[in-house]
Amino acid sequence: MRLEGKHIVLGISGGIAAYKSAALLRLLIKEGAEVQVVITPNGKEFITPATLAALSGKPVVSEFFAANTGEWHSHVDLGLWADLMVIAPATACTLAKMATGVADNMLITTYLSAKEPVMVAPAMDLDMFAHPSTQRNLDTLRGDGVIVLDSPSGELASGLEGKGRMLEPEQILEKVVEHFESASRKDFAGEKVVITAGPTREKIDDVRFIANHSSGKMGMALAEEFASRGADVTLVCGPVEGRKPVDARVKTVKVESALEMLDAVKKEYRDADVTIFAAAVADYRPEVAVAGKIKREERGPMTLSLVENPDIAAEMGANKREGQVNVGFALESDNGLQNAAKKLDAKNLDLIVLNPANRSDAGFNADTDIITLIGRDNMKEEFPLMTKRQCASVIANAVAKIAR
Ligand code: CTP
Repeated sequence: MRLEGKHIVLGISGGIAAYKSAALLRLLIKEGAEVQVVITPNGKEFITPATLAALSGKPVVSEFFAANTGEWHSHVDLGLWADLMVIAPATACTLAKMATGVADNMLITTYLSAKEPVMVAPAMDLDMFAHPSTQRNLDTLRGDGVIVLDSPSGELASGLEGKGRMLEPEQILEKVVEHFESASRKDFAGEKVVITAGPTREKIDDVRFIANHSSGKMGMALAEEFASRGADVTLVCGPVEGRKPVDARVKTVKVESALEMLDAVKKEYRDADVTIFAAAVADYRPEVAVAGKIKREERGPMTLSLVENPDIAAEMGANKREGQVNVGFALESDNGLQNAAKKLDAKNLDLIVLNPANRSDAGFNADTDIITLIGRDNMKEEFPLMTKRQCASVIANAVAKIAR
């Protein structure tokens, strides 16, 4: 029994795939989970609450008030009780309501008060699934941290055939089990992980600097992911306004310039097991940082003379000892795969994370990203749009697989 003691809210909306929810419910119960079914009014047209109540051993929640007693069904309490909410099937309509917060049934109010992770298994016709509106809603939900179970995986997904069809109950069960396993996984226990994050600031004078738009979000997501998996994490972070890792176990070293970042990383690197270079380090700095403030009248036409900054990832790569794993990032607009592979070699990395520089929903500052992992021995793995935390999780999985 792999789900012993787990509390799961199973949300069912009105699609033809709702008949499969009974099978899913049975599988969840068989693995030891306690399941509370919440069904939409349309869902009841496809499967009867009596069947679901019999399988789950609990009255099914559908209306805001219980019909016989008038008792108010508390979606807030459900949110506190549950360890996971799985919405299967999730119709185009339910996805749209979730994305926009249209709380006109118990399933949506339960979703809006969910404190637990939420998973959706979309189920609809291919046309509806492929429509920009549905895709936009799915992207919004991914951005909100919802786990979208794309259907179906494997060979079928490469063609459009089958897209939009709900995953089979057995496949959804495996995703649920995987979710709980990874939440309790401590596969980095006892390991020291150093992560660089954010931009650097290169001083022109005491009030001006050269910087970039890096937000530090990916580095923080990585710090939280590795900490949750038992690692001893040090985050060497450039200036990111008002943002810090929420996980108190992460040790943060604040730095400003590339030179300061290099110093801090050098100190931490010696006994690091895994080092991840997620910072957007300025490649150049002004040759001199002028003391005080440069005045306009003294200036006239002005040229800034820049000198090269050290490449932190490359320097650490050159001093890598046996068993250390180094991971870099490549933010690229063109020829991503080639450039990333070149950086993997040049910086003696074990893994590089390629992400696009020319999209608003990926890379700098976004909450989501589209990553491709490139490793040694022609290892290459592409992922769809995911939250940065989900990216962090697949990056950690890939690091865990690297032989040490
Ligand atoms: N990096 C670093 N120190 C630098 C520059 C980059 O540690 N001075 C790291 C980044 O954190 C990232 C990787 O190297 O993991 C690639 O950074 P990127 O700026 O894409 O590479 P560059 O070598 O600077 O190449 P270019 O800017 O020409 O694309």
